[in-house]
Amino acid sequence: MGEPQLGDRSTSLDTSVPHIARVYDYWLGGKDNYAADRKAAEQVISTFPDVTVSVRAQRAFLGRAVHYLAAEAGIRQFLDIGTGLPSANNTHEVAQHVAPESRIVYVDNDPIVLLHARALLTSSPEGTTIYIEADLRETGKILEQAARILDFSQPVAIMLLGVLHCVPDADDPAAIVARLLAAVSPGSYLAIAHPASDVAVDQMARSMRNYNAQARDPLTARTHAEVSRFFEGLDLVEPGVVQVHRWRAGVGDLATDRELANYGGVGRKP
Ligand SMILES: C[S@@+](CC[C@H](N)C(=O)[O-])C[C@H]1O[C@@H](n2cnc3c(N)ncnc32)[C@H](O)[C@@H]1O
Repeated sequence: MGEPQLGDRSTSLDTSVPHIARVYDYWLGGKDNYAADRKAAEQVISTFPDVTVSVRAQRAFLGRAVHYLAAEAGIRQFLDIGTGLPSANNTHEVAQHVAPESRIVYVDNDPIVLLHARALLTSSPEGTTIYIEADLRETGKILEQAARILDFSQPVAIMLLGVLHCVPDADDPAAIVARLLAAVSPGSYLAIAHPASDVAVDQMARSMRNYNAQARDPLTARTHAEVSRFFEGLDLVEPGVVQVHRWRAGVGDLATDRELANYGGVGRKP
């Protein structure tokens, strides 16, 4: 399977149009964003106020998923694509808290994330973290460079949290996931968080339309069935693909009876 040509879509730093990394940073209460990002972020909030709750719930899901993978599944290698700007509880912090020898490869296509990557490279002395600037669609480049520190004969957790919706159907995100999964050994895991198109349907549709009218890279929310399809061939970890705040929720997590348009799940390659 070949990789699609990125053409002029490869990311250069243009702060005059909103970019998802900086918009997401704004929703999380961060400071690494520009006027165009803040405008787009506020417009989404005006049509979909729960977006700020949803992104915080996604970060909490990231923490629970990485903790599960390190503490219960025994994973020591993480490939985190669509890393985002450093925030609380980054993947290496959660993993190395459980197992200091954990090795983490961060991948993002936004030069702003690269500028802040130093904060992601604060590995424990026993472990390693590296950062690769690449697009999720460039699976060959990602796998080749990740092999500098990841041993692909041993299980790896592939983390695709809040990034697959940045890949439109035309670029076949399922094929991208399949290429990544083909490269990892049995016993490896895939974790996904993905905005839902079949929860808060009207609000989500309106906010996606508003955002996509301003941003260079369009976002695609997907249904439960569409998100579940990314896990084809894997054994889903309980409770399956659910709204992120309902995935192994613990004390201090958001109440699980509210609706959030954001799906999460973790699957194991048999
Ligand atoms: C919404 S943030 C998610 C951050 C983090 N994974 C989390 O769940 O908190 C999405 C990140 O994916 C990155 N991204 C978007 N499209 C990408 C692509 N095609 N390739 C690599 N990274 C991408 C953005 O730059 C941004 O940092």
